[in-house]
Amino acid sequence: MSVKIHFLRYEAYQEDGKLFFYNPLNQHKIIMEKIQKKGAVKFFNGKQIPLEMHKVRIVQSLKLVPVERRLEAIGQAGYNSFLLGTKDIFLDMLTDSGTNAMSDEQVSKMFVADDAYAGSQSFVKFQKSVSDVFGKNLLLPVHQGRAAENIISQTFVRKGSVIPMNYHFTTTLAHIQLNGGKVVELYTPEAMKIKSTHPFKGNIDINRLEELINKTGPENIPFIRMEASTNLIGGQPFSMDNFKNVRRIADKYKLIIVLDASLIGENAFFVQKREQGYEEKSIGFILNEMCGLSDIVYFSGRKVSSSRGGAICTNNIDLYNKMKDLVPLYEGFLTYGGISIREIEAMTVGLYETLDEDVVGQSPSFINYAAIELDKLGIPVIMPGGALGCHVDAKQFLSHVPQANYPAGALVAAFYIISGIRGMERGTMSSIRDEQGNDILADLELMRLAFPRRVFTLSQTEYLIDRLNWLYHNRDLVGGIRFVEEPPVLRFFTGRLNPIGNWPEKLVAKFKADFGDSL
Ligand code: F0G
Repeated sequence: MSVKIHFLRYEAYQEDGKLFFYNPLNQHKIIMEKIQKKGAVKFFNGKQIPLEMHKVRIVQSLKLVPVERRLEAIGQAGYNSFLLGTKDIFLDMLTDSGTNAMSDEQVSKMFVADDAYAGSQSFVKFQKSVSDVFGKNLLLPVHQGRAAENIISQTFVRKGSVIPMNYHFTTTLAHIQLNGGKVVELYTPEAMKIKSTHPFKGNIDINRLEELINKTGPENIPFIRMEASTNLIGGQPFSMDNFKNVRRIADKYKLIIVLDASLIGENAFFVQKREQGYEEKSIGFILNEMCGLSDIVYFSGRKVSSSRGGAICTNNIDLYNKMKDLVPLYEGFLTYGGISIREIEAMTVGLYETLDEDVVGQSPSFINYAAIELDKLGIPVIMPGGALGCHVDAKQFLSHVPQANYPAGALVAAFYIISGIRGMERGTMSSIRDEQGNDILADLELMRLAFPRRVFTLSQTEYLIDRLNWLYHNRDLVGGIRFVEEPPVLRFFTGRLNPIGNWPEKLVAKFKADFGDSL
């Protein structure tokens, strides 16, 4: 006997204790236990081309302003790509956060939102989607991912706390430090190799984890944090095998695991594609297993569900109760968490769509295409391609620019000037200073070119590859940048910088000499 629960176009039902999802409209069967193996479409010409499994029905027109204007615009933005206005941007590859394309189902559900301060039925649907997709029944909504980090850090982190993790994210580190805690990153040596064939560079080093716990004392470790598709090291996933070992260690020392699930769909996609034993497992199965190994799961809905918002979820009532009261204080009532109910509807649909490998695999397949093509041209790019974006190694690209002059930030500015493409600096500019006021040099100096889900086309990707190739041939023209206004916290968001010397003008002159009146 099967129990059918109608939800949106999906029916979730249990059979012999197993959970299945079925979309009757497109006959798409997403089974938790086993999937029909889907291969990629093969082209007659033998090319490896990522094929879009969607069609575009609403578009936003783009403009490419002339190179002279781009030079002026980056100057007005203090050489900080966060301060550019979209009117001056051609391809906005700053982030996938809140910029993924929504599906027709998401947009349509936004119109039936049950707006209420308390007790909204849209929240009940959201609870059910989190329970179906992540297997967690207690849910705290928040306005975005960092709000979850605020609540988790305020609840569990104290002065002297040590938080081991595979790698930090900028806002996570800031919240943990704000509460007096210290982050210890226990990545494996493979994580720092730009070009690698290792499928799971986001793994935590299990031996170092146990050593740290013994050295620090489990009583000083409020939780172990694992980040899915580790953002700052190139969107690199961890393996299920690694995560199971984290659970084993956590159980041994009675520690809790907090999973940052902002990029969990992609991590699950990589597990399915790269990890032995998971080839036949569905994304839903992998998500449930991953979350099942975690005590607390939090996420940025801006990423995982192609919408806005975020949440914290758990099955542990004690942990839930410890965090609960901070939600009405910082976010909003427990059934809306500081975001519009419309976004809660979109997040709910987006979570179900995370079960579809065509959805969670779209961005990684474009990133993989770009990374392979750039690598063929000799351009230093993180391999294998990960989640979120294509990551260019600025340390190698601009090997003549010292790290203290922010090569990744300079590369982002230079690439914007010559292409109109906005990337993001993920290096020392995004890092912090030590107690003496010296820059803590980042492990990696990366220019991240994000591929928001289902937003850009293959010809736009070809344009990116072409312009980056031109810049690589002219890389000697690019110099460093230095801060002229530097905020004390999260300085990369609003800090202003100047170029060291007049390299931007020289770069534009060469661009004009090579491209004439082409934009
Ligand atoms: N955790 C991870 C792994 C993230 O990538 C982000 C955001 C957050 C937490 C915070 O979530 O933005 O909703 O408050 N990453 C964005 C990015 C900002 O561009 O990579 P948020």
